[in-house]
Amino acid sequence: MGTPPRSAKPRNGKAGKPFLRPFSGEAVAPPPIWLMRQAGRYLPEYREVRAKAGGFLDLCYNPDLAAEVTLQPIRRFGFDAAIIFSDILIVPHALGQEVRFIEGEGPRLDPITGVAGLARLDASKTGDRFGKVYEAIAKTASLLPAEAALIGFCGAPWTVATYMVGGQGSTDQAATRLWAYRDPEGFSQLIALLVTTSIEYLCGQIAAGAECLQIFDTWAGNLPDDEFERWSVEPTKAIVAGIKKKHPMVPIIGFPKGAGASALNYVAETGVNGIGCDTSMPPFMMAEAFADENVVVQGNLDPLLLVAGGEAMEARVEEILELMEDRRFIFNLGHGIVPETPPEHVALLVKLVRGGH
Ligand code: CP3
Repeated sequence: MGTPPRSAKPRNGKAGKPFLRPFSGEAVAPPPIWLMRQAGRYLPEYREVRAKAGGFLDLCYNPDLAAEVTLQPIRRFGFDAAIIFSDILIVPHALGQEVRFIEGEGPRLDPITGVAGLARLDASKTGDRFGKVYEAIAKTASLLPAEAALIGFCGAPWTVATYMVGGQGSTDQAATRLWAYRDPEGFSQLIALLVTTSIEYLCGQIAAGAECLQIFDTWAGNLPDDEFERWSVEPTKAIVAGIKKKHPMVPIIGFPKGAGASALNYVAETGVNGIGCDTSMPPFMMAEAFADENVVVQGNLDPLLLVAGGEAMEARVEEILELMEDRRFIFNLGHGIVPETPPEHVALLVKLVRGGH
């Protein structure tokens, strides 16, 4: 089934996990590969465990089952990194906000639409729920093949806030942007709470065994200029600084989806070690824009090309690989895998990236 795992043998004459080596300044060839949402509904073995677990949150808080689904795509495809199976909405849930996942509809939260709502959150009780995630990380780390790295994550404060305020996903995040425009001081209290909670949470993930972190700012792209600076760049910069104080060597990847040209500023100001590029960035720009920055580039195949497969996918993969040759690069999608993805297309993608046809 699928592609066998990459051997633990050193490549390019050097030792170490292939996924981590670009962060030490090396252009690894072929580039390491993992995919956002690589554990999920497109895998029959995930659907089986998911059905056994009960609800989605039950799965997130069950360390044995969460470790199992984290490892499934590593076993099947031999990716260079595993990302701990969890969700960005664990943070509001641990803070005491009601979070439900409705089958086929996505998350629903009890919206917090103004400063008064902040009283419903309690930062002193996050430990119980975060502890389950740390257990899942430790368990995964103990079972992971030696050559694969383990990624921890959280949502960026802005993106997490859009769900906390809107109560669900939306295409324009209107409720959250309006609060931020009308009462920036009040809104900044929510962002500040998410900054401190995220630092604690990510440091806990490192202590449990995470070797790299990714900060998902899925809705950064809807923030105009100054707001992007204030609500995406500044909080991310504070989180990066807070983690680096304790764990200076753990690489952090930022994923400011939809940031476009502002991704350059984001890299320069936040101090992230890696930049996740979404599908809207042309590969030639991905190759050129960050060439002078001390940053690893990650991206950016369209998840729908992975569904379609065939020559269109192969041509785009070739283009990305050629343009990113000799760069510190990690192959990924421009956003998460969608449930309709045929697993055999994923196996083919891994083979293509590793130089097979
Ligand atoms: O494999 C991995 O990447 C690790 C697990 C992971 C999940 N969510 C599992 C999940 C990660 C890294 C996330 C991040 C996440 N969650 C983001 C940021 C990245 C992105 O995709 O933009 C966001 C915005 C969320 C919030 C969220 N969780 C939404 C909007 C939804 C519903 C949409 C959907 O795909 O159903 C979820 C549910 C969710 N999170 C699922 C999975 C596998 C599907 C639910 C299920 O299995 O029933």
